[in-house]
Formats: sequence, C-alpha cells, structure tokens
Amino acid sequence: PTGYFIEPYRAQYHFSPEENWMNDPNGLVYKDSLYHLFYQYYPDSTVWGPMHWGHAVSEDMMKWKHKPVALSPDKNGYVFSGSVVVDHKNTAGFGTTDNPAMVAVFTYHNMIRENAGTNDYETQGIAYSLDNGDSWTKYEGNPVVKNPGSKDFRDPKVFWNKITESWTMLLVAGDHVQIWNSLNLKEWEKGSEFGKNQGAHGGIWECPDMFPMKIEGTDEVKWVLLVSVSPGAPNGGSGTQYFIGDFDGITFTTDQVEHKWVDLGRDNYAGVTYNDAPNDERVFMGWMSNWEYAQDTPTEAWRGTMTVPRKLTLRKVGNEVALFNYPIRNFEKQVALAYPESIIEILPTRKRILPLKYGNQSKIQFTLSVPNTQMYFRNKNGDSLSVAIERDKKRVIFDRRKSGKVDFNENFSPGIQQMKIPNIPEGPIEVVMLLDHSSLELFINGGQYVMTNQIFPSEFFRALTIVNNSKEKLKIEDFTEHKVERV
Ligand code: FRU
Repeated sequence: PTGYFIEPYRAQYHFSPEENWMNDPNGLVYKDSLYHLFYQYYPDSTVWGPMHWGHAVSEDMMKWKHKPVALSPDKNGYVFSGSVVVDHKNTAGFGTTDNPAMVAVFTYHNMIRENAGTNDYETQGIAYSLDNGDSWTKYEGNPVVKNPGSKDFRDPKVFWNKITESWTMLLVAGDHVQIWNSLNLKEWEKGSEFGKNQGAHGGIWECPDMFPMKIEGTDEVKWVLLVSVSPGAPNGGSGTQYFIGDFDGITFTTDQVEHKWVDLGRDNYAGVTYNDAPNDERVFMGWMSNWEYAQDTPTEAWRGTMTVPRKLTLRKVGNEVALFNYPIRNFEKQVALAYPESIIEILPTRKRILPLKYGNQSKIQFTLSVPNTQMYFRNKNGDSLSVAIERDKKRVIFDRRKSGKVDFNENFSPGIQQMKIPNIPEGPIEVVMLLDHSSLELFINGGQYVMTNQIFPSEFFRALTIVNNSKEKLKIEDFTEHKVERV
C-alpha cells in the first residue's frame, strides 16, 4: 500500500504488520514452497490485547505477502503462542496423505478463569487447515492438553520425533520445560521435565524450541534447546537462552553450567525456528522487542517488527561449542548496490568519517584488524548510535542513549549495554551491521556474538565514524555498504 515505507520508523526490509500490534512469531513452517509466518496479533489496537494469530507467507522469507487473520479467540480463551506442523502421515485424520493438514498447536489463555483467580487458565488447543493456512477449523475436542494446576503453561512447540516415531511437544510451565508425546496430536502424555535447576531464571520461561544439529565439520549431533525468559536477560528484560545437550527421544539432558544467549542485545525475544525447512536448515526468527517497553515504542499505525531470518549453526570455537546465528543466504538476494571503500587506514587515536549512502536501509560489512575500535552513526539532527569493540577487555559496548527518540519509556535506554566476547578468535574480526529504519542488528565473527536493538532516530543515519582506540594502525580492507531492497 502507498505510504507503507515512508511512515516514521517503518522497517524497510524487516517484517512488520501493516497495522496494529504484533509480538511473538508463531507457527513457523515450510510447506509446498512457501514459508509461513504466523504471529501474535491484536487486530484492534497498537497495544497488546485479545490475542489472534496474524499470518503472512513468503517464498524466500524476505518478501512477505500479508494474509487474513488465521486464528481468533473463542470460548476457550485468547490464542497465545504456538507452532504449526504438517501432518504428512495424517495421524490426526484431519486431512489425507495426499493433502496433509497443517495443524496449529497453540495455548488458550482464558481471561475469565484468570480473573476468577483460578490457576488453570492456560490449556493447549489445536486447529487445522486444508488450504495452506487460508482457513482454519478448531478441533471440537479442545483443549487437548488440560492444565495440571500450573498458572503458566504455554507456548507449545511441536515437531516430528524421528527417535520415537511420534509427535513431541515442548511446553513451558513457569520455571521449566515439559516434554509431551502424542501419536495423533490429540492425545498427549507427559514424558519428562527440564530446567528447574538449569539456566537463567530471572523471570518466567516462555516460547521453547528444540532441535538436533550437527557440529559443523564433524559428524557429532547435539540437541539445542531454546527458552526465552522475561525478565532476566543479560542487558535487562526479555531474552532468549540456549542449552546444548542430548535428547534420547523422551528426556533432554545437558552438562552445561554457564548461561548462553542467542542474542545479547535487548530486542530479540520469543524466537523459534522453522519446521520442515528445506535442506535441514535451521532458520530462526525473533520478535524485535522487549516486554520492558514493547507497548510504548513510538510507532504509530503498527507496533512490532521481526528480526531478519537467521540461519543457526553449531560450531566449535576453541574448546567451546557455540550456537551461531547469521542472516540467511536469501538475505543476500535482497542486497543490491554495493558502495565499497578501498583500503581504509586509521592511525592510533584518529578517526575517519564515512558517508553512508543508503542510510537506514543498508548492510555494512568489514573486518577490523586492531583490538579496540569505536563506531558511531550520526544524522543531521545530531542523533548518534555507538558500538565499541574492546577486544582487550573482551567486550562490546552498545550505546543507544542518544540514538533518537528514547524517552517514551525509562526502561528503553537507561544505560549502555555490554556484551562479553570471551571466546573471540585471534586475528581480524568480521563485523556485519544491518541498519534498518528502527533497528540495528550487529553480528560479530559470522554470528558468534550478536546484538539486536531497536532505535528510533529522527532521520536516517548518514555517516559512520570509525575511531581507532588502539596503539597500532587500523586497517580495514573490505568495507562495503550495501543497499538492502525494500520488501
Ligand atoms: C511471549 C508471550 C508468550 C505468550 C504470548 C502472549 O512474548 O508472553 O509466552 O504465549 O507472549 O501474547
């Protein structure tokens, strides 16, 4: 629609709803050459309310087509987060093996019961579609999983379990994950629990996901469990942690002691991965916000944007195995004109100002040769956004305190953000920055360390200043600023 991209702060190349409120990505699934994105949606306002599932489809996860609302609240409650599977073997009997049903598994949140003070207001329901998600029928036997007496009991992630040849569902119950099993998506049995004594517990656990991955360059398979927690993230508020371990088909185990995070910025929450993605790729998408201030961000017609889709990989770095996340390969197709700089050399304590041709519609990439470098973006109104890489202190400092509109909520930018980079390899480091109208995604060393943050600058940033804070000459050999096409 006309005007879509010129509204203040409107994302140019990230998914956002045309209007009104969006939070978590839901039901990420690939079927018949289309990627589906469902999402927590309130079609009547720009703040959170009775939850529906919005819907969009894409061939490449970059250009999205908006579809009608898929699921709406009913007598069982609001429709909270969940997942979608394609029932290829027709185990639930909703479709046929020739035209398998898409089955959505989601949480019902019953406000009437909650307000009545009972603990059983969250249950799990299912719905199916035989026309690729255009229309949905709720199962008459809902809810399929009753509440065992736990207030928080939600966000089912279902996948086909090849070990047990059945469906597996992960659920969160306040401070832990529960793993349930089913042969037909209708009758479920609890198999195990994980996490009461593991990981970060600053707030309740939400939106779990779990999948096997080969450690790159080896034949070793590990299972990765994602769990969002809010509050309790390293830089405050909402964040997504991960565990690397093993799964025997019923129980997840890990000997991981330290806390690990998918993203160390403040705006990547409730992220989960695609079911059935081609070539066994693990593609992740998160909601670019934080419950500490999500409902106050200064957008007008809509509120809520997703991260770029990211490919997950497990890699050995030194003695550690880590989960990397990096823009998917299709993102490069969205990348158009390049604006390369020939060799940039900056003497110690000096700086260089590089004009930004494409402003907040760009991908900026380079490698840094010296330990300590500060980078800041500027626009003509004096907004500035700073990222400092301090390798000697093994950290990155992210400062959005003067990046534009920040005063809409005191929790948005009370101070600087810090990301520890304890395990960064020697030698030059690759830095990729995806700058959109209202976000900056920072990927260090191919996605080993990532920070995603919203920003609300009054104008596009038009210059990037690079400061050499080291005793050696800084050499940047492959600086490019790419224009990213609008989607
Ligand atoms: C996470 C979350 C989920 C819940 C949904 C409600 O952001 O709180 O746990 O299902 O949002 O909109």
